Amino acid sequence: MAAGKGTRLKSQLPKVLHEAGGKPLLEHVIRAAVRVVPNPKNVYAIIGHEAERVRAAMAHTGVNFVLQAEQRGTGHALMVAREALAGYDYVIVLSGDAPMITPETIQSLLKFHIKERAAMTLLSAELENPFGYGRVLRKPGSADVEAIVEEKAASAEQKKIREINSGFYVFSLKELYSHIDKLSTDNAHAEYYLTDMARVLRKAGRRVVAYKTANPGEVLGGNTRAELADIDQKMRLAKCSQLMADGVTIFYPATCVIDADVEIAADSVIEPYVQLLGKTKIGTGCRVRSYCVIRDSEIGDGVMIRPGCVMEDTRVSAGAVLGPYSHLRPGSEIGEGAHVGNFVETKKIRLGKGSKANHLTYLGDAEIGAGVNIGAGTITCNYDGVHKHKTVIDDGAFIGSDSTLVAPVRVGKGAYVGAASCITDDVPDDSLAIGRGRQIVKEGWAREKRKK
Ligand code: UD1
Ligand code: CA
Repeated sequence: MAAGKGTRLKSQLPKVLHEAGGKPLLEHVIRAAVRVVPNPKNVYAIIGHEAERVRAAMAHTGVNFVLQAEQRGTGHALMVAREALAGYDYVIVLSGDAPMITPETIQSLLKFHIKERAAMTLLSAELENPFGYGRVLRKPGSADVEAIVEEKAASAEQKKIREINSGFYVFSLKELYSHIDKLSTDNAHAEYYLTDMARVLRKAGRRVVAYKTANPGEVLGGNTRAELADIDQKMRLAKCSQLMADGVTIFYPATCVIDADVEIAADSVIEPYVQLLGKTKIGTGCRVRSYCVIRDSEIGDGVMIRPGCVMEDTRVSAGAVLGPYSHLRPGSEIGEGAHVGNFVETKKIRLGKGSKANHLTYLGDAEIGAGVNIGAGTITCNYDGVHKHKTVIDDGAFIGSDSTLVAPVRVGKGAYVGAASCITDDVPDDSLAIGRGRQIVKEGWAREKRKK
């Protein structure tokens, strides 16, 4: 179920597209579902509010979509799915806003349902603070459920019940659809509540049971920004714990933001306040110092990333040294053992093995060979206001400080560019190019001026 608006988030973005652990809530739920019913074609996402946006964001998962054009409650969501589900024996219902659920728990819920020969089985959990959730009213001392009562309808006595309805269920399809029309909208939200199926099925003499999970953390829903923050923090900590178990050192894990799909090899060190996002991969023996934000990048072995580096869609080879404060923009390829220093910005470049650009430099649209030295303040002038042009610097070249290289231009193998040059013409191999005004010295000029 993913059709709701998420009123409590006060957001333009539909609730199920809000992120936790670096992924939309719904994507976490779909991933779990697909591991239970391996073919995504057996998964149906019920969408409604901002349906096209949700559909586009989830299209890559390969699941089906059912449109609930008007969102008239969780019970109504299942009414709308009737046709799509015809032909199945069971339906497992998952809440699209509860992303911590695991395939193992869904699997156990299904097994329990089949074993108990129930018409409806709900996943329940014992929460410290059950506020906001539906409470499970049990037939005393049994697995059987009498009803689910929503927070708003609960009496003071019922509000004390800490066993909550998680929003995950298994129904025997025939039982669900032969009784679903008995749901009414006689409640606080004037909606069809799926939870009311418990009472409806009981009344019809069918079996309704609850399977209580031993992992209540898995059922938390992200209905408010505070709940989202809580879920996000739990996912991040779980990710850090996993990485640490795999041999990664993380100082102060509570300060690190590491997305679910990030990979880090053993014996790398992540310092406090680091963000590793998207599909970032880090090799072994690396050190990522504080305040780095790295997205979708691949870092080889033994790379040192000093504080404050920002990196996106970048590849860094083994033994390179970056930062502090380097900005590596998409398409940067940093060669083995190369150095990129403070306040150096790169974009769409290849910097060859052992080459160095240590200070205050912009390198864009450039092909730079091995063993090249780029002096402080070098700038590749890659943009003429309309088009981007390429700069080529061959192996072993030396670019003096404060040079501007006006692309398209090439500096040949082993060539030198004198400091403060503006290079507009190609520089042949092994030559020296100087492109600057000649210095004039007026002896005694300053002394004379002072006398005046
Ligand atoms: C629901 C349950 C509550 C349970 C809680 C667990 C009902 C009436 N209440 O409350 O007992 O404790 O989940 O998290 O079901 N949705 C639709 N179509 C709709 C309405 C909702 O697809 O017309 C989707 C939402 O997008 C969401 C899910 O169903 O993913 C649950 O809806 P939500 O409004 O969050 O229900 P809760 O108030 O959390
Ligand atoms: Ca919810």
